[in-house]
Amino acid sequence: MKISGKVALITGGAGGLGKAFAAALLRAKAKAVCLVDISSRGKEVAEDLRLQYPPSQVDFYHCDVMNYDLFKGAFDFVQKRFGAIDIVCNNAGMAASDHNVSGSIRTLRLNLEAVYFGTKLGMDYMDKESGRGGVIINVASMAAFLPLMGSMCYNASKAGVVALTKSAGVPEQYEMTGVRVNALCPSFTETPLLDTSSGLREMIAQLPNHPIMSPEYVAEGFQQLVENEELCGAVMRVTPQKGIEIVPNRRKDRNSSSKL
Ligand SMILES: NC(=O)c1ccc[n+]([C@@H]2O[C@H](COP(=O)([O-])OP(=O)(O)OC[C@H]3O[C@@H](n4cnc5c(N)ncnc54)[C@H](O)[C@@H]3O)[C@@H](O)[C@H]2O)c1
Repeated sequence: MKISGKVALITGGAGGLGKAFAAALLRAKAKAVCLVDISSRGKEVAEDLRLQYPPSQVDFYHCDVMNYDLFKGAFDFVQKRFGAIDIVCNNAGMAASDHNVSGSIRTLRLNLEAVYFGTKLGMDYMDKESGRGGVIINVASMAAFLPLMGSMCYNASKAGVVALTKSAGVPEQYEMTGVRVNALCPSFTETPLLDTSSGLREMIAQLPNHPIMSPEYVAEGFQQLVENEELCGAVMRVTPQKGIEIVPNRRKDRNSSSKL
């Protein structure tokens, strides 16, 4: 998809990766980006972006994406304010350690259930019947493949996002709806998230060969997933070791797995 002239809704837009994704879209001449976040820090992030890009192109919508009705309100807002939605990035997320039971349950709800809400709403608002087609990027993590020790629910939520994305991104469905769905799986990235789960930063420091990436580097992968029309149900891994890699959702692989 050509980003120029398109409208994007990014959840977790007040955070490290969300802000970098918004900046990447604005640099590529998106018509507008709306940051959707539960934190009022989103206002400051939007103000900061407005200093660098045309102010009318950036907005903030305060919302808890774990609440379907409130999340739908964000879609209605963006549609009304900017006339359409073309790009949805389900990026809001959190990490909690296994010791924190309520935090772990919240992690499952935010990282997986809310991504389901955002994927469903993205399909409803952008499909060929109600919209003009579009792209949904679900932010998972390398933890979907290489589990983080002591973070069962984080790992499970991210593996769930990969599976959800592959099902929503079946290319035959894209042909009907005009909506592509892809997953982005970064490895450790320098954002506030690394300091929210107790002991996470210390654990990373002890891992050999695990440099922490910049959000801007991950945003390069994000932009490719948005722009590359060939990618549907694809999983992108972004790591300092191997760079940006894409695992396509190939028809022949799906046929063989359906025979299992
Ligand atoms: N930082 C990393 O190392 C890393 C690696 C892989 C994947 N990720 C994923 O990237 C995504 C973005 O995380 P980040 O690293 O930028 O962290 P972050 O903590 O900077 O950003 C997360 C954002 O989500 C928002 N949020 C939390 N609960 C919300 C809710 N209920 N409704 C709306 N917004 C809510 C927060 O306010 C915050 O702005 C997450 O899904 C995370 O799991 C991060």
